[in-house]
This record gives sequence, C-alpha cells and structure tokens, in this order.
Amino acid sequence: MRMLLLCLSLLASASPLAAQEALGLAAPPALADTGLLQYLLPRFSLKTGVRVVPDPGGTMELADAAPGTPVFAGAGVTWHLRPGDDPRAVRFLEWLTSDIGRRTIDSFPGPATFTTDLTPPEEDTAPEITGDAALGADLSRTHCARCHVIGEADRNKGIGSTPSFAVLRALNDWDERFMTFYVRAPHPAFTQIQGITAPFDITRPSPIAPLLMQPEDIDAILAFVAAMNAANLGAPLQLQ
Ligand code: HEC
Repeated sequence: MRMLLLCLSLLASASPLAAQEALGLAAPPALADTGLLQYLLPRFSLKTGVRVVPDPGGTMELADAAPGTPVFAGAGVTWHLRPGDDPRAVRFLEWLTSDIGRRTIDSFPGPATFTTDLTPPEEDTAPEITGDAALGADLSRTHCARCHVIGEADRNKGIGSTPSFAVLRALNDWDERFMTFYVRAPHPAFTQIQGITAPFDITRPSPIAPLLMQPEDIDAILAFVAAMNAANLGAPLQLQ
C-alpha cells in the first residue's frame, strides 16, 4: 500500500495541480483504521486531480453521526460527510455519491465492509421527530415564508408558483424533502446550513438575502410541518 501511495503521489506531482495543497479529511479511528480511506482517496485524486489525505486536523470530516450528508454505512454506523469550508470538498462529496464513487466504496475488499445502500430497514421508516415545533414555526416564518405559504395565517402571502407547506406536507415523502430541502432547487443558490453546506461559490454569491440556519433548525421545522397535519385532522387539507 505504501508503494501504491508513493506511485500515486509521484503521478500527482507530475500534474499541474500538484502545487495545490492537499485537502485534509478527518475521521475517527473506527473508520481510519479500516483502510477504507487509503483505498478511496487515491482513486478520487487520480480521477479529479484534487488531493485529499487523511488528516486528524482536516477541515473536512467523516463523522459517525449527523450532521452532514450520509454517504455510506459500515463498522456499525452511517458515516456522514461534513465538508467544512473548502470548496474542493464539494467535488469530493459529489464523487462519493456518484455511481463510480459508490462502486468504489462498495468494492472495498475489507476486512471491514462498507455499503452505500442506506435504505433504512422496513420497520422504522417513520421519521423520528425530535425538534421543537414552536421554534420550527418561528423559523419557517422568518426563513421560508418569503416564498412559501407556511400556514393559514399567511395564506395570501408567499409566491404563487411556490408550493405551500400544506401541499408539500401532503406528499408521501414530505419528511425526506424537508430534511434535504437545502440541496433541492432553488434553495442551494441562497441557503447555508452551518457545518453542512459548502460556502457559496465566490463567483456566484447568493442572488437574494441568504438563508442561514443551523442543522437543529431543520429538526424544528420538521416538527412544525409534522404537527401541521395533525392540526388538520378531521378537516380535508386545503390544497391550492
Ligand atoms: C426564495 C424563495 C424560497 C425560500 C426562501 C424557500 N423556498 Fe422552498 N421552495 C421554493 C420554490 C420556488 C420551490 C419549488 C421548487 C420546484 O418546484 O422545483 C420550493 C420547494 C421546496 C420544497 C420541496 C422541494 C422538493 O424538491 O420537493 C421544500 C421541502 C421546501 N421548499 C422547503 C423550504 C424550507 C424549509 C424553507 C425555509 C427554511 C424554504 N423552502 C425557503 C422557494 C423558496
């Protein structure tokens, strides 16, 4: 393995990107000791010219719990990538979640095995709602009501072409959509979730007042939206 890394770093130094400083990736020993990173990172670097190296002090992190984007499971947990502030981390996240990245993870020879199939077991698909619904209502009013109708009180506000929260709540996978709203169009252009999203591209700053939130804020909004339906039980949902 040492030899392989040496060869790869020689290859990398022949490329014009070699001058670029490597991007450090921190991971707890439970992951670092499996050898997965040594298997993964050189393959990513060869493909993209972006050097990522294991580094306990790295700005990008693979953590054994949320927040972050769930990327693969193994060693008993789901690993979440927290990209940190470096824009190159976005490339890495894209690669990890691409077909080729996923195949690379799934084909890790072990002894530990990793899988990118993160489908939850059948019995516990119901979301665990732990957030504070009242806080979620406030946050929705502050951050989302600029565009979305979020409740009865403001049904005449919002932007007409934007689905209301009630309409979104009626969808089967509403919780999935709300949990990941920040990666769904149009939000990435103006939304930053601290510690989860990469900073705006400096050449493409947010076109409108940016929406800045903490990861826990999403749990609160989820609790608010979950309760929204309960409040409507008995009366048919008013869809627009
Ligand atoms: C600047 C306007 C704007 C703001 C602010 C905004 N949204 Fe949206 N959102 C939209 C539009 C427009 C769509 C519809 C996108 C489409 O249909 O392609 C949307 C769609 C969504 C969807 C459905 C996405 C999908 O792919 O199914 C969710 C969930 C959502 N928004 C949640 C939120 C939450 C939560 C907030 C506040 C924290 C928020 N939005 C703030 C404009 C906005």
